[in-house]
This record gives sequence, C-alpha cells and structure tokens, in this order.
Amino acid sequence: IAPVVAPTPAAGTLDALRAAAQACRACPLWEPATQTVFGEGPPDARVLLVGEQPGDAEDLTGRPFVGPSGQVLDRALAELGIARDRLYLTNAVKHFRFERRGKQRLHRNPEVAHVDACRGWLAGEIERVRPEAVACLGATAALAVFGAGFRLMDQRGSWHTLHDGTRAFATVHPAWVLRQRGKERDAAYATFVADLALLGDALA
Ligand code: URA
Repeated sequence: IAPVVAPTPAAGTLDALRAAAQACRACPLWEPATQTVFGEGPPDARVLLVGEQPGDAEDLTGRPFVGPSGQVLDRALAELGIARDRLYLTNAVKHFRFERRGKQRLHRNPEVAHVDACRGWLAGEIERVRPEAVACLGATAALAVFGAGFRLMDQRGSWHTLHDGTRAFATVHPAWVLRQRGKERDAAYATFVADLALLGDALA
C-alpha cells in the first residue's frame, strides 16, 4: 500500500502536533517501532536541526539524538560552543526502521515513501518553530527539506533558501562519520564540524 502523507493538524501548538503524531499510521513503520520520536527543543528555537530517523536508543527512549550519532553531534556542538538546548532537534522520519537479527535491531535506511509519508509532521514543526535556519544532517534530511534534486556531497556546507525564505544548509550525517575508519573518520568529523559552524551565524 502506498503511504499517504500524515494528516497533520493545520492549527494548534507544537505540543498538539506532537500528541497527534503519536497515533500516526501513515506508513507501516509505526507497527514494529516502540513509539513515534517527535522533535524536541524550544518551540521558538532559532535553529531547527533535521536528522534521518530515530535509531535504537531513540526508539526506546522517545528522544532524538540520544544514541551514538547523538554523541557525535553533542561533541561537535560542544567544540563549537553551541548549547544543544538552544536547538530544536527532529528527524525526517519519526519511526525507527530496522530489521531484526537475533536480538539485535539493525538500522535500515528509510525509503522515499517513508520520508513522503512523514513530511507533514516535519513541515508542521518548521511552520510552528519558525526557525531562522534549518540544518539537515545527511541525505535523507536533505531530501525531506530540499527535495530530490539536492546532491549532498556537492551542495553541503553552504546556505540555500527554502520556499518560505528560511535559510538552510546540509551536512553529512554523524552515523556516516562513525562508519569511516582512521584518518578518514577524522576528516569526515572535521567536515561535519566545519559545516555546523554555519549555525554560528543564526545563533549569534
Ligand atoms: N540518527 C538520526 O538521524 N536521528 C536520531 O535521532 C538519531 C540518530
């Protein structure tokens, strides 16, 4: 069955949107997942940061970026002197997509259909938070925010303007940094930090 775009409430607060998202059935990912992992952070944050989807730890706790990727993000923000609690953190897809291998739950990339089904929630968050800047971590977030024509490795690390005038940029995903080895991981992390430094403009 083709996923449908989540029927998000057009009016109401961010908390109302968060509550409504708990019951989302717009794509099949809700069923094996523990819970909807909605965004968190100040409802008037100047920066809204978009990840891919919750991972194992996020699915269990109900909070974005609390697992290994979140630790890389936290380290980068600390190096840049940016307080995480000033940012609104969310994901393009709000349920964990995984496959079971024994006791393990292994991450699977979300498909375009999952991103499409979830887009209403992300749009609802952006409309309510009205950030000055949106930061996309990884290709899935960039797809959700910029659309299919965006080429992450060619277009990351510089500002673009969304249809509503909001400034936005993309960088690599922290999980991609963690998948690199040795010097390549150092270089990937340096790219991530250098791109996130753009947030300084929006938070100054
Ligand atoms: N990776 C993401 O993209 N988002 C999370 O919340 C956690 C890991």
